[in-house]
Amino acid sequence: ACFSLGVMVTMNQRLEADTLLLVADEFGYKIEFSDADLEESAIEEDTDTEEDLLPRAPIVTVMGHVDHGKTSLLDYIRKTNVIAGESGGITQHIGAYNVQLENGQRITFLDTPGHEAFTAMRARGAQITDIAIIVIAADDDVMPQTKEAISHAQAAGVPMIIALNKVDKPNANPDNVRQQLSSMNVLVEEWGGNVQSQEVSAKFGNNMDALLDKVLLQAEMLELKANPNKNAQGVVIEASLDKGRGYISTILVQSGTLKVGDYVLAGKNHGKVKAMLDERGKPLESAGPSIPVTILGLDGAPTAGDKFRVFEDEREAKSIATKREQLQREQSIRTKKHLTLDELGRRI
Ligand code: GTP
Ligand code: MG
Repeated sequence: ACFSLGVMVTMNQRLEADTLLLVADEFGYKIEFSDADLEESAIEEDTDTEEDLLPRAPIVTVMGHVDHGKTSLLDYIRKTNVIAGESGGITQHIGAYNVQLENGQRITFLDTPGHEAFTAMRARGAQITDIAIIVIAADDDVMPQTKEAISHAQAAGVPMIIALNKVDKPNANPDNVRQQLSSMNVLVEEWGGNVQSQEVSAKFGNNMDALLDKVLLQAEMLELKANPNKNAQGVVIEASLDKGRGYISTILVQSGTLKVGDYVLAGKNHGKVKAMLDERGKPLESAGPSIPVTILGLDGAPTAGDKFRVFEDEREAKSIATKREQLQREQSIRTKKHLTLDELGRRI
């Protein structure tokens, strides 16, 4: 039946859903697809009750055009909120960290480079951000990447706070930015709208406290909660191979608590958490909801945006990882085949 449909396959090859429907139709059958596919069957039902849920820190993503000051803004916040005794410990840049403010409140920040499409994260269905800070340099225009960031936040229903950055510059013109925002229907509070905004200088630290207050105000309204008393699950922020330490992955716990010794499946990688480090490289024994940590012990580098979860049963985690890898391999063989056929076509 496949051949007659022009689909060249062998007996033990997986078929696309569309092809399956056609083939079944040839034989007079109807196919019903079950929602519980490979991935989902591995996901436990969320059975948290209201009493299980405890307040958690907001997860704030900083987005905006290249060079508008996202990293500077985060660096300033991090520098000024280092708890006494911990200063000097900041070693390297990582894309996620948690800060504790003077009043004891915590905020988790995610940095996204301007050149890297935030789409990748959302495309994998990993909705992880509670609040988006859109950084716009006040000496520049609302640029394409800024517009993209705004529409991502809007599409995801994530509240935005506009940071009008670089107001220390003599040619800064925040009103020009407000104007351009209003022409795309983003009306800031000063102009009678409902989008919070704050003029800042990430370089000199002007009004950074006011910006953080706005983040906390927004977070309070969202009443963010999670159950810390279960096996952890969350999302991969970044991962790489470290010469001395093997694969290191920065992950963000969304619910539950991750502990050293837990068995983790992340995308198609898995392994026992050998060690956990905070953003300053300090060892941790456990990490609860909204906390980003770097973990050691996975057998490879999962992809940013992959979901992770803890398994009681090591074998189950391994078998899902193997199946995912197999599916991916088949997928890539198939695409390669198509390429060769295309090339052939061109040559003929
Ligand atoms: P990408 O990650 O490449 O997208 O850039 P970014 O948005 O993280 O910008 P980054 O923080 O690297 O800042 C870009 C440049 O702008 C640097 O040279 C900063 O020193 C400068 N800059 C950032 N904020 C300010 C500010 O408030 N005032 C002034 N004068 N310069 C700033
Ligand atoms: Mg940056």
